[in-house]
Amino acid sequence: MLDWAMARPGFKTQLFRFVDVFPALDGDEEVARHLAEYFEDVAVPRVLDLGMDAADRVPFGHSLEARVARRNITRMAEQFIVGRTAAEAAAALEVQWRRGSAFTCDLLGEKTLVGGEADRYAGRVVELLDTLSAAAARWAPDDHLERDDLGPIERVNVSIKPTALAAHLEPLSAEEGLAEAKARIRPLLRRARQLGAFIHVDTEHADVKDLTFRLVTELLDEGEFADVSAGVVVQAYLRDSYEDLSQLVAWSAGRAHPLTVRLVKGAYWDTETVKAQAEGWPAPVYEHKEQTDANYERCARLLHDHHGEIRAAFASHNLRSLAYAIAYGRSLGIPDSGYEIQMLYGMAEPVHAAIRRLGMRLRVYAPVGELVPGMAYLVRRLLENTSNESFVRHRFAEGRTLDDLLKAPTEADLPGPPAPLSPGPTDPVAPQPYTPEPVAEWRRPWAREPFAAAVATGATRGVIDVPGLIDEDWIRTAATIDSVDPGNFERVVARSASCSTGDADRAVEMAVQAAPAWRAASPLERAALAFRVADLLRCQR
Ligand code: FAD
Ligand code: 2OP
Repeated sequence: MLDWAMARPGFKTQLFRFVDVFPALDGDEEVARHLAEYFEDVAVPRVLDLGMDAADRVPFGHSLEARVARRNITRMAEQFIVGRTAAEAAAALEVQWRRGSAFTCDLLGEKTLVGGEADRYAGRVVELLDTLSAAAARWAPDDHLERDDLGPIERVNVSIKPTALAAHLEPLSAEEGLAEAKARIRPLLRRARQLGAFIHVDTEHADVKDLTFRLVTELLDEGEFADVSAGVVVQAYLRDSYEDLSQLVAWSAGRAHPLTVRLVKGAYWDTETVKAQAEGWPAPVYEHKEQTDANYERCARLLHDHHGEIRAAFASHNLRSLAYAIAYGRSLGIPDSGYEIQMLYGMAEPVHAAIRRLGMRLRVYAPVGELVPGMAYLVRRLLENTSNESFVRHRFAEGRTLDDLLKAPTEADLPGPPAPLSPGPTDPVAPQPYTPEPVAEWRRPWAREPFAAAVATGATRGVIDVPGLIDEDWIRTAATIDSVDPGNFERVVARSASCSTGDADRAVEMAVQAAPAWRAASPLERAALAFRVADLLRCQR
């Protein structure tokens, strides 16, 4: 079915939409109705062959049994999800361990909206830590997986999503969100230390990337956690990732217990690109795949160059990216045990086997949980497997040659970190397409910091006086209208005139007098006025 999707973008879109909505559907009838509606206008395979045996094949359309669709989507999810419960995951991870792979277990779920949900997520992470630790204590020791050149490595490793742990982890509520996330992660770090387990904090959307790095470094800077190590993720598709990585390396170099950095390319490329386009912001990600690949290699060099100050993990399914990290490490004389290779459960399994055969330490990222909280994860994996740019697709679906796939990325000049856009001069005559002023990109310091400074100055500036304006006369009145700060009702922000009916009559009269001139003004003159107002607003934003 994915082959069919790769060749037919229209079907692929509908398939992903259906997969996305599927867990919310109630009952067979709804499933059948949605199948009919979603696939009505696209060419679909006559049978949806999702890897079933022949007896399961049914014609597509109204007669398709919802039961079959349900079973097959569940099967598709099972490809990427190691178990529904912690106990199921522990059993499957033991098989991986015996095969020679370490693991990091991810509890499916992201972006909570209220505190109760975040509490439940945190509680389930504790259960996961407890269950995995109890199970893993019975596994045979494996020095290859439990030691690197810097010392012992925890057997139990859990990856968490920071947005699942704080409902307000967003740029505009940064301090509240960080406080909330820290309050939920501290007990996890304590529990992990008690059990001898490791916590790795994933990096999600670009909106929360800076907050995620602050979260981890500020927590580990707390005296209580001076002896704790943890992990973060750097996404090489981000144009500011090299600078971020340099800062993390410098921070880690000053610690007794180095930070672990997992280097990935990034799982949210489509969302980041579409969102930036829609908002009118500079794209946070590189626009060409080769740029991401070249930056991945640049970041890999930085990590190896600081071997010992930081622990490196190279996460990729791309043989070129992995081979580069290994070859560069070897060229510096770093032992193969001095870093690890990480891959996703259910993705590019022949590469897992190859990495183990090479004698590298392999850690498999294995999600655990139910289909509904796992849906976003599943859709990201489906996108990743079917993307035109995907190594996995090129190698395993299209069978491209290794020589082709191992070529060095050729992007010499990588665009630097995104900078604020400076809108061009507004000229109503110029034949530019109209673009609305973008809303502030709060995730960037250049938007946040002047705004915070303006709010702070405003708070001490006293009440803004707003007289009425009729013709060219400023009107002050005995009665006034107060506008209060919506964040603090006690504070009056502005006091404006409260005009009388007599004032209103005069204003209408002046407007009537002005009407003929305005009517006679050309559209260009009127537009010029609107543009001038826009400039004034922009300058004083
Ligand atoms: P490739 O096929 O070589 O690269 C595909 C990637 O290239 C895309 O995912 C995208 O990042 C990038 N790309 C695609 N098209 C373009 C384009 N037009 N321009 C620029 N770049 C493009 N991801 C996270 O975001 N956060 C995490 O915390 C995280 N943890 C992970 C943990 C592990 C162990 C692993 C293996 C992966 C993790 N990922 C995470 C997912 C990871 O980002 C994707 O699996 C990875 O990007 C796929 O890249 P690749 O090197 O395997 O494949
Ligand atoms: C994701 O959740 C693996 O963290 C990565 O897509």
